[in-house]
Amino acid sequence: MNKRRSVEEIVAEINYDESKIPEYSIPPLLVKNDGSAVENSWDWMNFRRAEILNFYREEVFGDAPLLPEQMSREVLTVRHDALGGKAIRKEIRLTFTHQGHSRSWTMLLYIPVNASGKVPVVLGLNFKGNHASAGEDDVLITGLDLAGNPVSDERGCQSHRWPFEAIIDRGFAAATVCYHDIYPDFSGEDALRKSIYGLVYPQMSAADIHRKHSAIGAWAWGLSRMLDALGSEEHIDTDRAMVTGHSRLGKTALWAGAVDLRFKVVVSNDSGHGGAALFRRCIGENAEVLVTVFPHWFVSGFDKYAGKDADLPFDQHFLLSLIAPRTLCIGSATKDLWADPKGEFLAGVHASEVYWLFGVRGMPVSEHPAPDVNVTGEISYHLRTGEHEILLQDWEHYLDAAGKIFDRK
Ligand code: GCU
Repeated sequence: MNKRRSVEEIVAEINYDESKIPEYSIPPLLVKNDGSAVENSWDWMNFRRAEILNFYREEVFGDAPLLPEQMSREVLTVRHDALGGKAIRKEIRLTFTHQGHSRSWTMLLYIPVNASGKVPVVLGLNFKGNHASAGEDDVLITGLDLAGNPVSDERGCQSHRWPFEAIIDRGFAAATVCYHDIYPDFSGEDALRKSIYGLVYPQMSAADIHRKHSAIGAWAWGLSRMLDALGSEEHIDTDRAMVTGHSRLGKTALWAGAVDLRFKVVVSNDSGHGGAALFRRCIGENAEVLVTVFPHWFVSGFDKYAGKDADLPFDQHFLLSLIAPRTLCIGSATKDLWADPKGEFLAGVHASEVYWLFGVRGMPVSEHPAPDVNVTGEISYHLRTGEHEILLQDWEHYLDAAGKIFDRK
């Protein structure tokens, strides 16, 4: 895209009217680049899936960073009486070292205290620091802005997004890291240099890094490294891992699930455009907003799709199809029109044809469900009444879906 319009100009034209959605056809999932049909799940896993994954690597979220020379793990704190005695709480520093420099993130982890044997784990990134996500007032402050200040010094201000006690009560462990620690969520070179890419590509120009990598790619990579670290925990079963995320972190959870098959349940909460929503409905946010306001979330070449939402050669059912046949949960909210709830649902419906190849249904319904009706299947969906948020009601549905395959109630 050559000439960039201002955000105000773009936002003034945003459509929220279903009757103004252009006629569209959905790019086929089950036709390979050479025009031949995908015959079965084997053909899917070995050929078509790889084509779509490569497409997202080249055009949307980029490649994972080079593996740093060293990764280490240090337990900073342990409490055996967390959450009113229900959980063991640990804070674990993960350090990545490359050519004498390092980056560290602190992972907050809760494990049910009465775990007999290994338990499944829920992991996700948080927006404002571990201290802002937890209700307990002695959690270490994490997540710094570019000036090195906490992104929020308000303890617990986002604890409604992380119902750790409810998660523990259902027999899951839970782990989180602040996403700014992996790639500070700002556009520009300063943030890039402070990110994991700055560590592993110290000599490369910012433009070259951005051509091949993105912030969402870094965050997704971080989720995989969290899972690696959780593998050292005696009571955690990393074969039963659910990756979650809200909004931009929902986009991230989808990409993490696409790349890393160890995530057996993938949760997209209000992930919107660049996440679960179909671009070609042209309702709510669009590609031009994304590349104008958040250019660092995508590889730089993604901006060629700005203004082309209606006839992209791909759409987000492609991203969702990469999760198949694993459990995928899509949550929307009635007032979150910016994220296009119906488009999030329909992408799940279209991705279901890949689930069929595996002999399962995917999304169990084809009509957009009424608010607050949970539809639970290999692809689950609900439309919560309310705002763009992740609340206990959303978590309950995700934990129900995960519980079915992870042997939890
Ligand atoms: C903005 C952005 C969305 C994103 C959201 C969030 O609204 O336009 O794409 O999902 O921020 O992450 O909160």
